[in-house]
Amino acid sequence: LEPLDPVRYMSNRSSGKMGYALAKAARRRGAKVTLVSGPTALKPPRDVTLCLVKTAEEMRQAVLAECRQYDVIIKAAAVLDWRPKETAEHKIKKGRGVQTLELVENPDILAELGCSRGNSPCILVGFAAETQDLIANAQEKLKKKNLDLIVVNDVSREDAGFEADTNAVKILYRDGHLEELPLMPKEEVAEQLLDRIKSLREKSL
Ligand code: PMT
Repeated sequence: LEPLDPVRYMSNRSSGKMGYALAKAARRRGAKVTLVSGPTALKPPRDVTLCLVKTAEEMRQAVLAECRQYDVIIKAAAVLDWRPKETAEHKIKKGRGVQTLELVENPDILAELGCSRGNSPCILVGFAAETQDLIANAQEKLKKKNLDLIVVNDVSREDAGFEADTNAVKILYRDGHLEELPLMPKEEVAEQLLDRIKSLREKSL
């Protein structure tokens, strides 16, 4: 989230369910896990290192500090693309008419990881939250952010994407291969994704 003043902020509908399911599933498989999480009502999984952040810049700092230790980085977080240019020190008062909110761009954490990865064997996985032209938009993000795979998430559906307990995703690989998974609980999506990531990793070793 991005604060506007001490009582208001910009945010989005992400509940954290998808990210937490991934962290839990990876831990259950025996991985060492750091979960970098924005604000959520969820209970953190056991035995993971939890790194709580609020803003995109805080998430960036946490991810960059941790990333070198890891063989796999999965970015399921819905990072705000913009933040208010100014955060007011005191509550903004009404009575001055409608105000215009000036926004500035946030850092793109995943693009920064992808563009600086060099020959690192680390597997980099992104999510693409889309409401239209799903595959074309996801393909562009995969390329621009230099990812190994991207999970295409149609967030216009009620039973998938934000807040739902279930998800229906497509997995787009670097070589253009596209795999469609049926609707299933987010915990099962996490398992299926980790299976795909495991075989990518085995191939790259
Ligand atoms: O949390 P839930 O309620 O369970 O919902 C799950 C989800 C819909 C949030 C999740 O499945 C999902 O789709 N996450 C990605 C949301 C998103 O921000 O998508 P994007 O298309 O805007 O971003 C593409 C990728 O770049 C993402 O991996 C994102 O983490 C990353 N990104 C985006 C912007 C930014 N400034 N920095 C980033 O690292």
